[in-house]
Amino acid sequence: MKLAVEKRRSYYALSNESPISDREIREIIDFAVLNVPSSFNSQSTRVVLLLGDSHKKLWQIVKDVLQKRISEEAFVATEKKIDGAFASGYGTVLFYEDEAVVEGLQQAFPSYKDNFPVWSHHTSAMHQFTIWTLLEEAGLGASLQHYNPIIDEEVAKAFNINPKWKLIAQMSFGKPIGEPNVKERQSLEGRVVVFE
Ligand SMILES: Cc1cc2nc3c(=O)[nH]c(=O)nc-3n(C[C@H](O)[C@H](O)[C@H](O)COP(=O)(O)O)c2cc1C
Repeated sequence: MKLAVEKRRSYYALSNESPISDREIREIIDFAVLNVPSSFNSQSTRVVLLLGDSHKKLWQIVKDVLQKRISEEAFVATEKKIDGAFASGYGTVLFYEDEAVVEGLQQAFPSYKDNFPVWSHHTSAMHQFTIWTLLEEAGLGASLQHYNPIIDEEVAKAFNINPKWKLIAQMSFGKPIGEPNVKERQSLEGRVVVFE
């Protein structure tokens, strides 16, 4: 477990191959969704696994949406990054939270009303970390992206997403073809406090 946590990094150089089968990728997602905790055991996380043409379609949507919003010059660099680091991968995991579940909790427990959307994000984050770590433990590389909310509408249309599902993050993954960036780790001094 400690080794898997340490080995999880952001991989931005990916190829369109996978050391494990699509079925094994699906099993990792299923395992996480069944076992990761959620606030009030709400199980509000929804995961969409995009493989093959669906993965490619997602990143084309991201590029089309961005092209309409940024300068031509900025788009050249953005397109290069998307093509090399995200579209170039084997698949993408979309993390959603089901707002119908969150609203149900708010109605059932009005005194916690303001907390449920926050806890829903915490729940999503736990799923993101678990799936990221398990994919990399299986030999894949991945990175976490946030092109939401500007892509939400187009993605929902393309993949017929339930309108109550809110897009939280996109995780592109594939075979790592480069090392992760050097990571600076701040001193633990002042970041961890122990009282005995
Ligand atoms: C909540 C959260 C949001 C992040 N969002 C992005 C993002 O939008 N794009 C990106 O390239 N990396 C994103 N990252 C990755 C971080 O930049 C990365 O984890 C951090 O620099 C440490 O590097 P490592 O993942 O290699 O350990 C995010 C990470 C976290 C935890």
